[in-house]
Amino acid sequence: MSRPVAISEGIYWVGSVDWNIRHFHGSAFSTHRGTTYNAYLIIDEKIALVDTVYGPFAEELIAKLKDLLGSRKIDYLIINHTETDHSGAFPAMRNLYPEAKVVCTQRGLEGLQAHYGAEFDCTVVKTGDTIRLGRRSLTFIEAPMLHWPDSMFTYIPEEALLLPNDAFGQHLASSGRFDDEVDGAVLLDEAAKYYANILMPFSRLITNKLEEIKKMGLNIKMIAPSHGIIWRQNPGRIVEAYARWAEGKGVAKAIIAYDTMWQSTKKMAYALLDGLIAGGVEVKLFKLSVSDRSDIIKEVLEARALMVGSPTINNDILPTVSPLLDELVGLRPGNKKLGLAFGSYGWGGGAQKIIEERLKAAKVSLIEAGLAVKWVPTASDLERCFQVGREIAAKIKD
Ligand code: FEO
Repeated sequence: MSRPVAISEGIYWVGSVDWNIRHFHGSAFSTHRGTTYNAYLIIDEKIALVDTVYGPFAEELIAKLKDLLGSRKIDYLIINHTETDHSGAFPAMRNLYPEAKVVCTQRGLEGLQAHYGAEFDCTVVKTGDTIRLGRRSLTFIEAPMLHWPDSMFTYIPEEALLLPNDAFGQHLASSGRFDDEVDGAVLLDEAAKYYANILMPFSRLITNKLEEIKKMGLNIKMIAPSHGIIWRQNPGRIVEAYARWAEGKGVAKAIIAYDTMWQSTKKMAYALLDGLIAGGVEVKLFKLSVSDRSDIIKEVLEARALMVGSPTINNDILPTVSPLLDELVGLRPGNKKLGLAFGSYGWGGGAQKIIEERLKAAKVSLIEAGLAVKWVPTASDLERCFQVGREIAAKIKD
């Protein structure tokens, strides 16, 4: 079991490291590197616990609190977000500290009552509300739909410390608790995967929230999210990355995601790949039956073009292709990304139209009519795919 870690004088990480979780949100999000559930204890004249941990880790949280507090009690239990990976230990905290005042947004209160049922003394807060603990104070900033209606950030001005719950987090289990203690490339990779798979639909709200925080003039020297590491060395790095991801412009990079029955659609995918490479852009190619969907979505985040391929089968697309398109419809990568459908067919065809409809529903802008080839691509069909790859490369380099 992990031990408490001081992140500032009198402020402790009291979370848990979940080394072995490999799927999050049911099976929607692959977590190859595990995760953490971060909770923070502020010990002042009054004591506040900001967020809890996932329910199966409640005993770890209790042990850390007893270690740090002995017989002292928590005065405030701040619930930034009621999703159960953070509020799961709420009932255990209520049992241990029945006198603690619960602090959350109005939607947070509704969420707690829906999940845990009980009546309790609760202070509902709005943006700008403050609780003084002693030398330090807590200021609350509502962050609705980042990523639930109840979400809020807690800010400690005397420490220039922002506790934004899911925002700026990563699913990354590690022995180090801080950004200067882990590989920076891995860290940004996991932060991008987290943003793409959870926050991408809320990009416009993120842009607005970053602007709002800028206008509030908050001094932020440390960002301590509720998953992964704490940004203490360079919090600006993740704020800049969020601004870039939320803008959605991406870089000169293309994604090809396809599946194939008898290699015809594969040949088209590789001809597109060659054309894009010849056009001088970065490309990543994924065969969907052997690729991780959450990893592909992470790559889509910074790509400017997305090509999806499937042969027609039973007037439809291959069942291995549907889940990516279904998820993209929910995640809405946005109309700054260009899309193309391609694939082979035997007699009736139709897969390209289905892919195009799904890409349009995901708000992706179609580059041109899909590439469809009957039975087996000829040399001239493959040359056409190659040229389309080159044309797309030219478009996304501009
Ligand atoms: Fe990490 Fe929205 O919970």
